[in-house]
Formats: sequence, structure tokens, C-alpha cells
Amino acid sequence: MLVCTIESSCDETSVAIIEDGRHVRSVAVASQIPIHRRYGGVVPEIASRNHIRDIHTVLDDALAEAGVELADVDGFGVTAGPGLVGSLLVGIETAKALAYVAGKPCVGLNHIEGHLTAVMLELDGEPSPEFPFIGMVASGGHSDIYWVEGFGEYTSLGRTRDDAAGEAFDKVAKMLGLPYPGGIEIDQLARSGDPAAIDFPRPMWTRKNLDMSFAGLKTSVRTHLKTHGVPEGQALSDLCASFQQAVVDVLVMKTFAAVTKKQAKRVVLSGGVACNSVLRAAMRAEGERRGVRIHIAPPWLCTDNAAMLGPIAHHYLAQGAEASFEGFDIKANGNMPLGQSARPDSKGPHR
Ligand code: KG4
Ligand code: ZN
Repeated sequence: MLVCTIESSCDETSVAIIEDGRHVRSVAVASQIPIHRRYGGVVPEIASRNHIRDIHTVLDDALAEAGVELADVDGFGVTAGPGLVGSLLVGIETAKALAYVAGKPCVGLNHIEGHLTAVMLELDGEPSPEFPFIGMVASGGHSDIYWVEGFGEYTSLGRTRDDAAGEAFDKVAKMLGLPYPGGIEIDQLARSGDPAAIDFPRPMWTRKNLDMSFAGLKTSVRTHLKTHGVPEGQALSDLCASFQQAVVDVLVMKTFAAVTKKQAKRVVLSGGVACNSVLRAAMRAEGERRGVRIHIAPPWLCTDNAAMLGPIAHHYLAQGAEASFEGFDIKANGNMPLGQSARPDSKGPHR
């Protein structure tokens, strides 16, 4: 089955062609990062306008790279939420229109579910994880821990109570005068820094509760900057490394507290923050120490893109979601339950 997936929940316009839910025939991404950088973050109205401008080119690129035409596609999957309303609307209306014209089914998908299952794609040299696994999604909008027993079978074990991990990276970077998105900038500066230079707090440092909090850590950085000023040179690298280490310590500790709770054998780390070099290394090291298999997608698949929707789009379409372009709508806020992404008002198997 050939599926066309569309992702436009934030500031990346992306279309992918996925075969049998595993093989990435193509993925095209138009990133708006350079546009939003001058505002220090994503401006929703500008994001929607640029999605409208880019979506057709991105679709054409994805089809051309895969060497297929629209008529060859067996179904469509599109992010229906969570995300920015105007941005989601562009992807959803495009997918519905394409499905209508092609006379093929279309399913609305949960973005987080996409991040969680992206590693089910065929990736060079990396075997896909078997279910069940602990899934940690750390992105700009989410820091969530799930017990994943299958496609559509997710139990929430913990989440951030305030800022997401990526949001903390972005806000701290902004305080330091670094460009958006801040995660990658901090990651790079931290490479020459001392992670023990400043003892920032590790909020909610308990294995009993799997919720997280990053707002207090961000405030600690702000307080530090008020006292010491914004550092430069080596001191800037030291601050970046120290802040990053605090976030990494929390994410790793909470993930493995979840592993212990569920006696899990596998962990999947995903979302934009999973690009972080220190987090990737720390997760792998802890996994090795405890005999737990760690699956982390390559960085291009961790940040927002349409290929990550391939496995869930295939799953829901293969389960028989009928032509449903009228049956689902935008779920902009976080209250879109995982595993109920497609046609929440239908009697589909994914209810
Ligand atoms: O998953 P994603 O592309 O978008 C959301 O769904 O939010 O994640 C974007 C987030 C941003 O906050 C960005 O700063 C962060 O991922 N990020 C990183 C790194 N690369 C991207 N955070 C830490 N280290 C990185 N290398
Ligand atoms: Zn994302």
C-alpha cells in the first residue's frame, strides 16, 4: 500500500510517500525556520501563510522523488493535531481535497503518535523495536512518557506539568541571545562547555512520579543571568552545557523510572529534542548499563516531518478506515487522545 502523508502542525510543511508503512519512498520538507528566526519563535499567522505557499511544491517534490503520481496513492494520512490551528488547517484541507479528487481514504492523525512510532520505518541498519516499549517524546510542545503496547495502544505514564523540554531549550536560548530554535544552538555551544560548571536544579527529581517540570529550571537560568549577566565565550558554553545536562538528567531518569515501573526491555526516544547529542549518548549509555534496548530515530526523523506519520497512517488505513475526508477535523489543542486520531466520531477500529 502506497500512502501519502502530510504534516503541517507547526513550522514545517512536509509530504512523504511511504510504502507498506515501512519504506520511505520520499520525504520533502519546507522548513520555515529562517522566516521565524527573526521573531525569536514561531508566529502562527506567518506559519499558516507559508504552509499555503509551500504545500503544493512540497507535494510535487515528494511525488516526483518517489516516481509516483497521485493516482498511484492508495490513501492519505494527515496530522489533525495537536498543533497550530491555521497551520493544521492547511495540511488537513489539502489532504481532504486530494483524497476527494483521487477517491481514496484519508485519515486524521495524532502528531505525537507519529513521533512515537516513527522508528517503525525501515531505517538503515536499525531494526524496528518490538512492542511493548517505553516511549519518551521530547519536543517543542511535549514531554510525554508512554507505555506503548501496539499501534493505537498507549498508556500515559507521565508528562511535563509546565514547559516542554524543547520549549525550555528555546526559551533559555532566547535569554542568551541565541537564534531560534534554541535546542540545536545550545547543543553545539555545550560541546566545548563544562556540564558541571553550574549546578542547576533537576525539578521533580523523584522516581515515584513520572511527571516532569522544566519551567523552574528555566527560571533558575533567568535568575543566574540576572546575577551574573549574559555570559560570553567559555562561560556561555559552560552555562549551555550545565543547563543541557540538567534537562538530559531529568529525561533519562524519568525514562528509566518508567522502564523500572513497567519492567520494559525497550525504549523509544523521539521528538525534536531527541536530536540532542548528549541526550542520545546518555540514553544509550544508560540502556547499555541496564540491558535495555534503546531506539532513537536519526535526527532528520526526530524533528517534524511527514515520514514519521507513515507507520500510523498505514496502520489506520489498513485497518479499514473508509474514505473519511468529512469525518475528522482539527484537534489543535492537546486533548486529542493518542490512538483515537482518525475519525474520532466514527465506529472505526481506532476508537
Ligand atoms: O518535534 P519538533 O520538531 O517540533 C515539535 O513537535 O515541537 O521539536 C522541535 C524542538 C525545538 O524546541 C528545538 O529546540 C528542539 O526540538 N531541538 C533540540 C535539538 N534539535 C531540536 N533540542 C535540543 N538539542 C537539539 N539538538
Ligand atoms: Zn513534533
